Amino acid sequence: MHLLKNFKENPIGFFDSGVGGTSIWKEVINRLPFEDTIYLADSRNAPYGNKNKQEIIDICVKNTEILIKNGAKIIVVACNTATTNAIDILRNTYDIPFIGIEPAIKPAALATQTKAVGILATKGTLSSELFHKTTHQFASNINIIEQEGTGLVPLIENNMIDSYKMETLLKRYLKPMTHRRIDYLVLGCSHYPYLIPKIKEIIGDDVVIIDSGFAVAKQTEKILSEYNLLNNKNESGKHYLMSNSNIETLKNLVIDVKNKTIEQHYF
Ligand code: DGL
Repeated sequence: MHLLKNFKENPIGFFDSGVGGTSIWKEVINRLPFEDTIYLADSRNAPYGNKNKQEIIDICVKNTEILIKNGAKIIVVACNTATTNAIDILRNTYDIPFIGIEPAIKPAALATQTKAVGILATKGTLSSELFHKTTHQFASNINIIEQEGTGLVPLIENNMIDSYKMETLLKRYLKPMTHRRIDYLVLGCSHYPYLIPKIKEIIGDDVVIIDSGFAVAKQTEKILSEYNLLNNKNESGKHYLMSNSNIETLKNLVIDVKNKTIEQHYF
């Protein structure tokens, strides 16, 4: 049991295998502007998607311990791979609430007209039990076209969103989906929202792209409110971001966010 003083005023913790989870973090801080946050970019261990379940669990435990030591009152696991492989263990081990992210298969399955939905995610997410369960439960009558986004996370981590290599990989992964007439594309990795402009160039504007940021922000607010943990101080939140790798990419991606400190730490 982790008892913290001034619980309401403690920060919301986030972690991801690197910079991608900032796409989720941005949605949360937009929705909850008075909350302080602490974000752990575990870029040194990216990508998680190629690791086995036990390795992912061990990393998630380590990240959680750091966030709890830094006073996190709730933790947003801003990574699909970490959520689908480790969130049950985290919830059973620690006494603070956890918010996870999962590929938004359900809304896509409910809305598709062509009955064909694409999903771009990491190997770790697509092979997880939780993903299979969700797909089976909500999309058994839909043609789900799964594609591993191998190589995309390292390119994003290395500030190479606009590279030729990125364009080549995205075309290779997405063209077969458009040939199979998807009308929804689910982004099952928190790094991928940063690719939306590039993805649109390939699949066009008619395919609806769904990511999980908005839903996670809404859920975070709901859970904080249920636990009576919303920060009611009336001043803008402060944001502390740590990376255990080069911080240049992180800096670039959050350039517009105010009240932030970014530091490199070994963890
Ligand atoms: N942002 C992580 C996710 O949502 C990236 C996974 C990885 O590191 O492979 O799955």
